[in-house]
Amino acid sequence: MFQSVKVGSGRGSASVLVVGHFQGQSPDKKTLDLDASGTLSAAAKRDEATGDLGRIVEAFPTGKGRGTPDRIILVGLGSKDTFGPNAMRDVAAAVGKRLAVTKDESAHVALAPALASVKADIGRCGQSFGEGLGLLSWPADEFKGSASKKNNKSKLTVDTDDKRFADGVNHGLALAESANFTRTLSHTPPNICTPAFIASEAQKLARKTGMKCTVIKGDALERERFAGLINVGKASENAPCMVRLEYRPKGGSRSSAKPAVLVGKTMTYDSGGLSLKINNGMRGMKRDKDGGCAVLGAMHAIATVIKPKRPVVALLACAENSISDEAYRPDDVITFRNGVTVEVTNTDAEGRLVLADGLCWACEKEDPAYIIDLATLTGGVVVALGSVYCGMFCEDDKLRGKVEAAADATGERVWRLPLHQDYLDHMKSEIADILNSNPDRKAHPIQGAAFLAYFVEKGVPWCHLDIAGVHAVEGEKGPFVKGSATGWGVRLLAELLDND
Ligand code: BES
Ligand code: MN
Ligand code: ZN
Repeated sequence: MFQSVKVGSGRGSASVLVVGHFQGQSPDKKTLDLDASGTLSAAAKRDEATGDLGRIVEAFPTGKGRGTPDRIILVGLGSKDTFGPNAMRDVAAAVGKRLAVTKDESAHVALAPALASVKADIGRCGQSFGEGLGLLSWPADEFKGSASKKNNKSKLTVDTDDKRFADGVNHGLALAESANFTRTLSHTPPNICTPAFIASEAQKLARKTGMKCTVIKGDALERERFAGLINVGKASENAPCMVRLEYRPKGGSRSSAKPAVLVGKTMTYDSGGLSLKINNGMRGMKRDKDGGCAVLGAMHAIATVIKPKRPVVALLACAENSISDEAYRPDDVITFRNGVTVEVTNTDAEGRLVLADGLCWACEKEDPAYIIDLATLTGGVVVALGSVYCGMFCEDDKLRGKVEAAADATGERVWRLPLHQDYLDHMKSEIADILNSNPDRKAHPIQGAAFLAYFVEKGVPWCHLDIAGVHAVEGEKGPFVKGSATGWGVRLLAELLDND
C-alpha cells in the first residue's frame, strides 16, 4: 500500500488533515476549530457522516490560507460507548486506504482532541493507529512477476501535534514491522520456505540483533531424540530441524531469571502425509508454519523493540509433512524423549508430534518460567471459534491472566477451552501410552491440547494457543489484504513480555 510510513517532525504543512468523530455525534469543538474555513463543519452535517467505525467523509477547504490543507478526511471512530484503542487499527486502515488512493504523501493526523473527549489512552490509541498503518503497508506483491503491473507506492509521512500520540504511532509502526516479518515468511511458498530456509532466517535475525541461534538437524536430531521431528519429517527431501533462538537481556538483576519459552509449530507444508488431505484441503497449508513464524516475529520484536528484562528462548519445530516410501504411517509407534510412547492413528495430526519435542526439551533443558506454544493445530478450533478468537488452553491462573491481559491490549482475542483430566484419558491407546488422535473425532481442538499435556512437566505453567482460525484472513479485513497472514501472536507475545 505504501513504500514506507514514518512519523514526521510535526512541522510543515501536510496536504491532508485527518480528524475524527464518534457515531451519531458532531465533531467536538477542538476538532472543529482546526478548520477555520467552515468546510469541515459543513461536511460533518452531511447524512453520510455517520461516524461509523472507518466511515470516511471528505471536505475540500476553499479560500486557501497558509497551512490550509487540500483535503480534510473526517473519519468515524465508531460508538463512543464501546470505543477502545483497538478500534484505531481499523481507523488507520480506512484512512490509509484512502490516502493510498489519493496518493497523498503527507497527512496531519489530529485525532487526539476527539480521543480526549472520551478520555481514551492517547498513547495506546497512537500505537494501534501506527500498527494499523504498518500492517496495511505490508508488501503483498513479492511474488508478482513480469506479467503483473507494479503500482507505484507512495511514501507516507504522518504528523501529529500530540507527542503521546506520535510516540505511540512510532511504537506501533515498529511492532508492525515485526508482525510483517512473520507475514512475509507465512506468505513464502513451500518450495522456497523449507525448514532450512526458516533456520537461515532465524540465523540472520540472530546475527542482526545479537541473539544466539542454534539449529539442531541431521544426526543431532537423533542424539537429542526428537522423535516427532524425525518421524513427521522423514518423507520429505527438505529435512526437519529444531531452531533454538535465545534472547538475553543486557545486565540487570533479572538477566539470570528463568526464561519464558515460546514454542512454535513450523510445518512448512502439511500434505497430511499418508493420511493425505483430500478435497483441496491441502490448499493453504503453506501457512501451517505460522505458529513458528509468529514466534520468530515475536523474537524480532523482543530483540529490536521490547528488550524485556526476562530472558526468552524460542523453539521452532520445523518439518514438512510429506509422502514417500519412507513416510511415517498410521499404526507406527513412536517413543518420545520423555519416554511417552505414541501410537500414530493419523499422520495428519502431525503438529502435536513436533510440538511434543519442543515441549519436552523446554521442560528438561530450559528451566522455564513458563511455556507458551503457538500452532495451527486443528481444523476443529476453526469450527468452534471461527476467526474471531484463538483457542486458548491454560490451567495456570497466573499465566492465563498475563495472556488475557496482553490479548485485551493487542486485540488478538483468546477464548479459553477446557482441559479436564477426562480429555487426557480420552487420548489413551491400547497399544502405546497415547494416540496422536482419537478416531472418534470428539472434541478435536481439545484432543490436540490434551495430547500436548503429556509432554509438559507438572508444575510448569503452560499455555497452548491454537491459532488455526486466526493466523490468516480470507477476505480483506481492517489492515489485512485479502487472503493474507495476520501475524497473529507477534504483538500479543511482545506485549506480554513487555509487562512481564
Ligand atoms: N494443520 C492442520 C490444522 C489446520 C486445518 C490448520 C485447517 C488450518 C486450517 C493439522 O495438522 C491437521 O491436519 N489437523 C487435523 C487433525 C486430525 C487429523 C486429527 C484436523 O484438524 O482436521
Ligand atoms: Mn495435519
Ligand atoms: Zn498441520
